[in-house]
Amino acid sequence: MFEDIKARDEASVLQTYARFPVALKEGRNALCRDWDGREFIDFTSGIGVNSLGFCDPGWVGAVSGQLGSLQHTSNLYYTLPGIQAAEALTSRTGMKKAFFCNSGAEANEGAIKAARKYSFMKYGKGRARIITLENSFHGRTITTLAATGQEAFHNYFFPFTEGFAFASPDSPGAIAAMADDSVCAVMLELVQGEGGVIPLKAETVAAIAGMCAQRDILLIIDEVQTGIGRTGTLFCCEQYGIVPDIMTVAKGLGGGLPLGAVLFGEKAEAALGKGDHATTFGANPAVCAGACEVLRRMDASFLGEVRHKGQYIQERLLAMPHIASVTGIGMMLGAELTGADIKAVLAAGIREGVLLLSAKNKLRLLPPLSIPDADLDRGLDALRRALASL
Ligand SMILES: Cc1ncc(COP(=O)(O)O)c(C=O)c1O
Repeated sequence: MFEDIKARDEASVLQTYARFPVALKEGRNALCRDWDGREFIDFTSGIGVNSLGFCDPGWVGAVSGQLGSLQHTSNLYYTLPGIQAAEALTSRTGMKKAFFCNSGAEANEGAIKAARKYSFMKYGKGRARIITLENSFHGRTITTLAATGQEAFHNYFFPFTEGFAFASPDSPGAIAAMADDSVCAVMLELVQGEGGVIPLKAETVAAIAGMCAQRDILLIIDEVQTGIGRTGTLFCCEQYGIVPDIMTVAKGLGGGLPLGAVLFGEKAEAALGKGDHATTFGANPAVCAGACEVLRRMDASFLGEVRHKGQYIQERLLAMPHIASVTGIGMMLGAELTGADIKAVLAAGIREGVLLLSAKNKLRLLPPLSIPDADLDRGLDALRRALASL
């Protein structure tokens, strides 16, 4: 069955993804099956998207219930699910307003537009540069690629959007020196996910936040991968003790359907007005009904479980062969390998029944936040066998 599916994919789908040799058919929470009947424990959650795992009954009920009454209207009309999702996000973050879109890159595009307009309205032309960090990842559109501080992504697609400068995350002093009168915003991930699951130092983040506040430079926190409970709090910025001017969210928010959001704090909430920004599918009622269920489930006890499971995974990883060190927060974890190649680890994982991710040459784990303890152990046992086989 797999070979047939693969041949059909190659015949008609543009081959931009290096896929694993697995064709998935169905899943429940962290357990899934392929078309050949093999079972896997999922430690990927669709790259941090299926926060409640595969086909959570409450989430399926919320989405399908909404699908039965109104699936899409455009933003020319008011609909309730988007308002409810915005209320849940603003009441739990202290942010003032939400703009809904469809992906992380699109959320970052919205944030960049808002920061530039905020600055233009207040200071006029010439204050449009945005500082991002080396080793960052902010998306695949031309502008978010320009914002991404990894040389590897800057091939082929010239010319990029102007106005981005990269700073070393290890030198808040250098960032402050770069933040002159031409800069309107600093944008950063608190844990660099695609860059290798590397948390920023608390002192660095505090220094950047202080500098931004002092110079009226907007602080944009990209919580696309770290947000929605992934690090054990609803948003990672809570753990860093900062309140961003703009926060971007996607991945886990929709629980498996495409949804992104730009959240605006007090300073930036009026930056974009009618006609400044829009997207046809934004705040789609069915997708937002799913997001409301995701947010409803992420109460204090759920988030406490995420922290507890994250700690447990770290401890178990550190006792496994070929694991040199573990980085990350909550259930967003990366492991440095020693004496084993990441590609071989991912392939061995599939053989042993666990789906795994990489970030650069590290092993990366993003299990569904709702994974039951027994399935977590089953997946970790499979990972240990995979590593031991190499
Ligand atoms: C931190 C961060 N920002 C933005 C993105 C882009 O999100 P999307 O793929 O939904 O456009 C990603 C995706 O991995 C991400 O990790």
